[in-house]
Amino acid sequence: MIKLYGVIGNPIAQSMSPVMQNQEFQQFGLDAHYQPFHILEKELETAVKGMKVIGVEGFNVTSPHKTAIMPFLDKIDPLAEAIGAVNTVVRKNDEFHGYNTDGDGFIRALQADWKEDFMNERALIIGAGGAAKAIFYTLLSKGMAHIDICNRTAFKAKKLIEECPYEGKSKAISIAEAEDTLEHYNLIIQTTSIGMYPDIYKSPMSVKNLLPEAFVSDIIYNPFETALIKDAKQKGVKTQNGLGMFVYQGALAFEKWTGIAPDITRMTNIVVEQLGGNHANR
Ligand code: ATR
Repeated sequence: MIKLYGVIGNPIAQSMSPVMQNQEFQQFGLDAHYQPFHILEKELETAVKGMKVIGVEGFNVTSPHKTAIMPFLDKIDPLAEAIGAVNTVVRKNDEFHGYNTDGDGFIRALQADWKEDFMNERALIIGAGGAAKAIFYTLLSKGMAHIDICNRTAFKAKKLIEECPYEGKSKAISIAEAEDTLEHYNLIIQTTSIGMYPDIYKSPMSVKNLLPEAFVSDIIYNPFETALIKDAKQKGVKTQNGLGMFVYQGALAFEKWTGIAPDITRMTNIVVEQLGGNHANR
């Protein structure tokens, strides 16, 4: 019988996960289908129960359900518990188990585009929202110690650090301080929505003090090149956009469901195609 997978969110029509995941199911000859489900906040519990009884094998969870879904799952992986968000659910012995592959997806993408071992580098995260938290907690859980956070709303960066269960040497700084001391960092991780449509010309900070040998990762991939990425490139600094993180978080979910490591290049290509074919930043 065909195995059913999917993604729940609100909105969901824009999601590129269905084409990406269905392509891999087909390529590996698996009798499986991945379906987008538009689920309203007030229907979340009913939706999860429904998916359980109709036999859904696994699904992704996107905005706004990543935190709200947690009480409706049978088990939560410790990292997802710490982050306080689930993006991947796997059926195991008729239980739904929740994981978070966003941070690990980020790490895989960084390893692919920058270097295998960056755990001793000094990183700056811009932003203190959900994406920043997943990346920050995952990096700290893997032993990376030097990660500072700057955010428009200072107390949120401070809170993220204080509440983190993993050991580190982080401090919260203002955006202005980050700009002034940017040469202290060789990895910059941009997690805010600044640079997305319609404000594509906005950058969260000046790169005046950016080290030439630094690496800049912006988790936005639409547009393919944010103003921050353009500014960094102009200084000759190596960069990546968020496409790799998106593809790898999906690949890690696929692996959890099927036990098969999917083809990253093929997944990337189909997402690029969906985005209009601009491959410039990869
Ligand atoms: P996500 O889940 O994508 O991380 P989020 O949790 O809403 O989204 O977090 C958005 C992040 O982008 C926050 O760090 C937010 O800063 P504040 O905590 O000060 O709100 C940041 N952000 C969004 N729009 C911004 C803007 N115009 N200027 C500066 N920071 C902005």
